[in-house]
Amino acid sequence: MTNEQYYDFIQPYQNAGQMMYTRLEVLNKSLYCKSATSPIHNIQERIKSKKSVEKKLRKMGYSDSVQNAKDFLQDIAGIRVICYFIDDIYNLVNALKRQNELIFIKEKDYIRNPKPNGYRSYHVIIAVPVYYLDTMEYFPVEIQFRTMTMDLWASMEHRVCYKKQPEHRSELAEAFCQYADILGKIEEQFEAYNETGMLEEIE
Ligand code: GTP
Ligand code: MG
Repeated sequence: MTNEQYYDFIQPYQNAGQMMYTRLEVLNKSLYCKSATSPIHNIQERIKSKKSVEKKLRKMGYSDSVQNAKDFLQDIAGIRVICYFIDDIYNLVNALKRQNELIFIKEKDYIRNPKPNGYRSYHVIIAVPVYYLDTMEYFPVEIQFRTMTMDLWASMEHRVCYKKQPEHRSELAEAFCQYADILGKIEEQFEAYNETGMLEEIE
């Protein structure tokens, strides 16, 4: 894939990502109606780099052509939504599900079903319509919803465990299981401060 091909390829994904970002910003202001509370602490976004696109395709056993990237990768556009409480995540996901133009392609609830290493997050892949002069096409956007506690664990785990030699991996894995446990308990305590019920959203 040449640089030029890559930049042409990512353009519509960038557009789809921007549109999802705006939908999330609108929901952040409107989800709890008149209440001054908002569900989102912050939003991060990224477009998968050319290097990561090529690396992932090769890992999957495909050549790194634009067509393969289009056919096999659903995380070219990625958004991470950091929320205050677990309810905020489910309320946001449900609000997005009520938006008829969006198509949910994939959902993974690693909050109710954490990964064995302790990773928790709610992942969705949503197909977003992108309109051009006289055509429309859907492009996937991956959204990861996390609380701040989940994000602390995942960001540190990614930073510390990624690229580590196998001999250090098992000790680290054990340590991160413990951190997940401790952070889970802290989060349960934070949950007691959640004053936004479903009622306010429906009101
Ligand atoms: P990918 O090939 O990585 O996209 O995995 P997948 O297709 O099985 O999707 P999944 O929804 O499980 O994970 C997608 C993304 O979630 C990853 O690219 C990471 O950003 C994040 N993620 C998943 N598992 C972990 C984990 O164990 N630790 C951390 N730090 N992040 C994770
Ligand atoms: Mg990924």
